[in-house]
Amino acid sequence: MKIMIIVGARPNFMKAAPLIAAIREHNQRTVALSPKKQPIEAEKIQGVLVHTGQHYDEALSGSFFADLELPKPDVHLGVSSYSHAVQTAEIMRRFEEVLMRERPEVVVVVGDVNSTLACALVAAKVSYDSDETRPLIAHVEAGLRSFDRAMPEEVNRIVTDHLSDLLFVTEESGIRNLKNEGIPDYKIHFVGNTMIDSLLVSQKKADRSGILEELGLRNGLSKPLSANGTRKYALLTLHRPSNVDNREKFLSILEGLRELSDSCPIFFSAHPRTRKRITEFGFESFFEFNNGESEASGSKGASPQKGIHILEPLGYLDCLCLMKHAALVVTDSGGIQEETTCLRVPCITVRENTERPITVSSGTNTIAGTQTERIRNAIKAQTNKVPSARAPEKWDGRAGTRIVEAILLDLHRSRSTMRCSSEDTSRRADSVGDTLVGEYQRAIE
Ligand code: UD1
Repeated sequence: MKIMIIVGARPNFMKAAPLIAAIREHNQRTVALSPKKQPIEAEKIQGVLVHTGQHYDEALSGSFFADLELPKPDVHLGVSSYSHAVQTAEIMRRFEEVLMRERPEVVVVVGDVNSTLACALVAAKVSYDSDETRPLIAHVEAGLRSFDRAMPEEVNRIVTDHLSDLLFVTEESGIRNLKNEGIPDYKIHFVGNTMIDSLLVSQKKADRSGILEELGLRNGLSKPLSANGTRKYALLTLHRPSNVDNREKFLSILEGLRELSDSCPIFFSAHPRTRKRITEFGFESFFEFNNGESEASGSKGASPQKGIHILEPLGYLDCLCLMKHAALVVTDSGGIQEETTCLRVPCITVRENTERPITVSSGTNTIAGTQTERIRNAIKAQTNKVPSARAPEKWDGRAGTRIVEAILLDLHRSRSTMRCSSEDTSRRADSVGDTLVGEYQRAIE
């Protein structure tokens, strides 16, 4: 059986890696299975990894493949940066050819980027033959809602969810949102968070990253200097167009960080979009561009005392390491809100909303908005606070395995009816319905 997994942009890679690992494990298990097992359990999965090329730089893509030990993509569509419409259309055009050639039984899309939407849309409309056979569409990280349709990701999430046959949810709010939108129960699977699977698997390797030494935050094998409270640091990431493409908003956020940057160094992993805007808006004076060199000593490896220090976009392991030891993380990323929750590091989110409310109710995340005063107050309230975070349910490193098992179960049920016209889908609903949910739950517990 062939399962195609789509990745395109930086936040996709860590969400997809656990699926590839789970497929590998499934294939190893099949070798040892008794012939009495169901054919589908004994069948090998051919995983086909497709990279759309939405992110193409080494820093945003290549280094993540290395850090996550992802195999080289089987197919690279080579699409790069354009407007939303052109990028989405170009991915669709190139992906359709691949889908018709490869004919997978399942297409798995992850997250909420343009690649996610584009490939789900193609898979929903493709027809392998005159019987209108098409692949099942599985969406990993379904159901998240910011209720802000000005966010391109929100549009991508809603459309992808409504096109998908299997919706894999990371937190309880996702189940609620999908049900409220009329998605039937049997499609919804609460499996946990594959991004957290990757984090848990990568922690040891991240601990060996040399980034703390490089930035002068740890000497040799000693503890990070932040541990004694004298040389703490904060980590900053900003890339949302709504924050950095708008001069006033970007300025307001930077002003909100001024006090913090006077009291400790802030390391800023800057997305290429953000770098461009800094130059365009003439904001250079807010930053230090010395990339790990101390303004005090001028020597690499000595810890700076203050200022916002621009770094190239961080690789996955370096980012995890810096996140884990930071006194505070300030971000507009979705994934970092979740990673800080898992690592129990206080996080200030410079957005008006979050589609990941579990990160707030778990106690690590504060939604501060983008106004200077609110950011300043949120930072004051969070600094030096060790959040008493609860690990969200099922964020236990097993989401990838649960997803592959649920896909197998669904395929087993629907193999004879691969036609997934709406008529067929409702027929599957009638026959499979709650039984599937029950069997699946038993299979993964
Ligand atoms: C995309 C996702 C966003 C995700 C983010 C993570 C969408 C709608 N947005 O936003 O959800 O949080 O990735 O980074 O899919 N660029 C490079 N090198 C690259 C890729 C992009 O320099 O490898 C620059 C280009 O100038 C490009 C800009 O970054 O115009 C934006 O890239 P794009 O993929 O359009 O969106 P992101 O802002 O990265």
